[in-house]
Amino acid sequence: MIDGVLWPMWSWGATAGLAGRGQYYIMGHMSAQEWYKVEQLPWPADWAALLGREAPLVLEIGFGSGLFLVELARRLPQANVIGLEISLPSLRNAVRKVRRLGLTNVCLLQADARSALQVLFAPSSIAAVFINFPDPWPKKDHLDRRLIDERFLSLLASRLAPGGLLDIATDHDEYAVQITNSLLHSPYFTSRAGKVFTVADEGRVQTKYEQVALLAGRTPRYYKWRRDETVAVEETFPIPKEFAMPHVVLRLPADVAEIGRRFRPHAVAIEATRIRFVDAYQSLRDGKLLIETYINEEPLLQRLGLQVRARPTGEIVISLAEVGFPRPTRGVHLAIMALVEWLRAEFPSLVVVQTNLQGEHANTRGQRY
Ligand SMILES: C[S@@+](CC[C@H](N)C(=O)[O-])C[C@H]1O[C@@H](n2cnc3c(N)ncnc32)[C@H](O)[C@@H]1O
Repeated sequence: MIDGVLWPMWSWGATAGLAGRGQYYIMGHMSAQEWYKVEQLPWPADWAALLGREAPLVLEIGFGSGLFLVELARRLPQANVIGLEISLPSLRNAVRKVRRLGLTNVCLLQADARSALQVLFAPSSIAAVFINFPDPWPKKDHLDRRLIDERFLSLLASRLAPGGLLDIATDHDEYAVQITNSLLHSPYFTSRAGKVFTVADEGRVQTKYEQVALLAGRTPRYYKWRRDETVAVEETFPIPKEFAMPHVVLRLPADVAEIGRRFRPHAVAIEATRIRFVDAYQSLRDGKLLIETYINEEPLLQRLGLQVRARPTGEIVISLAEVGFPRPTRGVHLAIMALVEWLRAEFPSLVVVQTNLQGEHANTRGQRY
């Protein structure tokens, strides 16, 4: 039961002061980097290795200024606290706060909450999630950008441990209705407060947006819910798999320079995977091509380079360039196959000499979109 592990510490009022400094140094260093991105970590991430110890995982999504996040880490020295943000200025601010306080139980991620949750967190691995004042996206055209809906709650349910805590706060009336309805329709959560939300949360550290809302006379709603025992459908949100580093060897009546001259930006959709070949760049050193490619395979979006080079025999090899942190997902295999199909259309006599693409991928033809 999460409460037993985490929650004796979980009384804002009772633990409002700083814990002894020693408590913050039990794990050595926070992390080698200031923050991580989804593509830089194993899937799921090994939080114990990153933070130097096994500990209950507590997550704050969209931490903004980082005020609440550092307070979480201070008040829960026995937890590994993960902060998720998409905004770079917010990440820089939070890093400064974490450093200043010498907190070593914090790991920051620059990531979209949906993809990070699905990719980096094992099923039932999270003890508590906090979402404070998520962006309300008030315009009608933007409503689908709101983070919290029933599907997102199902994703959260698949990653929260049974008994895990979900705290949400908002000051936006319409978003509050959406959050209320989503929680009430979700089979995975039960209120801890005996009612849907409260309008006061004593002892809580106020976030920046909360302070603004209170000063402006708005009333925040605080949702304090718990993951119940209903089993979540984990297959709906699988952790993406990785495959072998892909490569294809081709024989065709063209050299790399000719392939570069023929290249035109184009896009292909294969099932739910969307691939865009954006541009081609040629190396001044050895003439190889780098095809800039975007691969959107939910929950992942990768921007990477596919490399096209010639062997001394004249055969052409297409592979994944090791620029940045590319991950050899199914979408990458599909992208290479789509590139081969484009080349086949340009050079109908093309022969595939060798490939390690999955059989399934080797025969997939995409639709241009
Ligand atoms: C309205 S601000 C609230 C910030 C802070 N929680 C507070 O209460 O002061 C919403 C924050 O969520 C972040 N955010 C928005 N969408 C996100 C997403 N999909 N994943 C992670 N963070 C997100 C934004 O960058 C922004 O910092």
